Amino acid sequence: MSVDITTAKLNLERNGFLDLEIDPSLDLFDEIAKLKKEKKAVLLAHYYQEPDIQDVADYIGDSLGLAQQAEKTDADIIVFAGVHFMAETAKILNPAKKVLLPDLNAGCSLSDSCPPPLFKAFKEKHPDHIVISYINCSAGIKALSDIICTSSNAKQIVESLPKDQKIIFAPDKNLGAYINKTTGRNMVLWNGACMVHEIFSLEKITKLKERHPEAKMIAHPECEEAVLQIADFIGSTTQLLKYTQQSGFNSFIVATEAGILHQMQLSSPDKIFIPAPPDNACACNDCPHMKLNTLEKLYLCLKYEQPEILMDEELRIQAKKPITKMLEMSRELGII
Ligand code: 13P
Ligand code: SF4
Repeated sequence: MSVDITTAKLNLERNGFLDLEIDPSLDLFDEIAKLKKEKKAVLLAHYYQEPDIQDVADYIGDSLGLAQQAEKTDADIIVFAGVHFMAETAKILNPAKKVLLPDLNAGCSLSDSCPPPLFKAFKEKHPDHIVISYINCSAGIKALSDIICTSSNAKQIVESLPKDQKIIFAPDKNLGAYINKTTGRNMVLWNGACMVHEIFSLEKITKLKERHPEAKMIAHPECEEAVLQIADFIGSTTQLLKYTQQSGFNSFIVATEAGILHQMQLSSPDKIFIPAPPDNACACNDCPHMKLNTLEKLYLCLKYEQPEILMDEELRIQAKKPITKMLEMSRELGII
């Protein structure tokens, strides 16, 4: 198939991917490496990306680590293999860089569960509360927040505030409830959730635990309380990965998006990792947004430098304040 390049570029801008046929003889791993060097581009990838993308990334991390990398990079181009709010955060922190996302449709159900106009009205009902928002939200929500947090630092950030400080926590009710439980706070929670972490089947996980009594069950705090209750360890993706590396145990049931198993298995090849099953016919749990990015789209994105994250400057400045606050607090608290 031959496609007019201008039309193809326009499609790419509109749809977030380029429907061009890629020469099948190309080694995409080599091509991506060449393009990164030629264009002085850095490839930042989240652990939930498919293994091939993780294998060509310059940095793989959780939301906090990725934000830090985006802030400090001296590359000309940031290619963000993750979802839209992550690439947008990179642009907010480092606006001079061209920030690319292989598929612009890579959104996030959690971020979508909190539309800024509705949240603004909710916030107005609690005028004496400050707003702490999980980084999995749009720039519009960030601009309405006082402090951003991630699953790596949420507990310490909340704990560092005066006990009588009234707080709205958005958008993840599961992470918020977990922080309320572990800190003894009573934050007002926005009713949002992640489709991937909400769908784990307690029944199937319980059966899996019975079949593998030696396995430690580890879970991301975006999971529902019933799943967290039967977990041996709870943490962000990086914290889960470190736990599997450092603990003396040899097998783990992993209740988060299955992409993380790639790094777990690479760094502990002799250990056994069992993905926690969702409440559907699948054996493991993939995020449909994260998995929209492919090696092919990544190659085209680097080659044509599209789709690019563009932002309104006023919104960017407003959204940056609570992220900067999070990074400052994380430094003060010794988290980063
Ligand atoms: P972390 O990698 O920061 O733990 O976040 C998990 C997640 O759901 C990202 O979308
Ligand atoms: Fe959003 Fe959940 Fe996917 Fe993370 S795993 S990008 S929170 S839908």
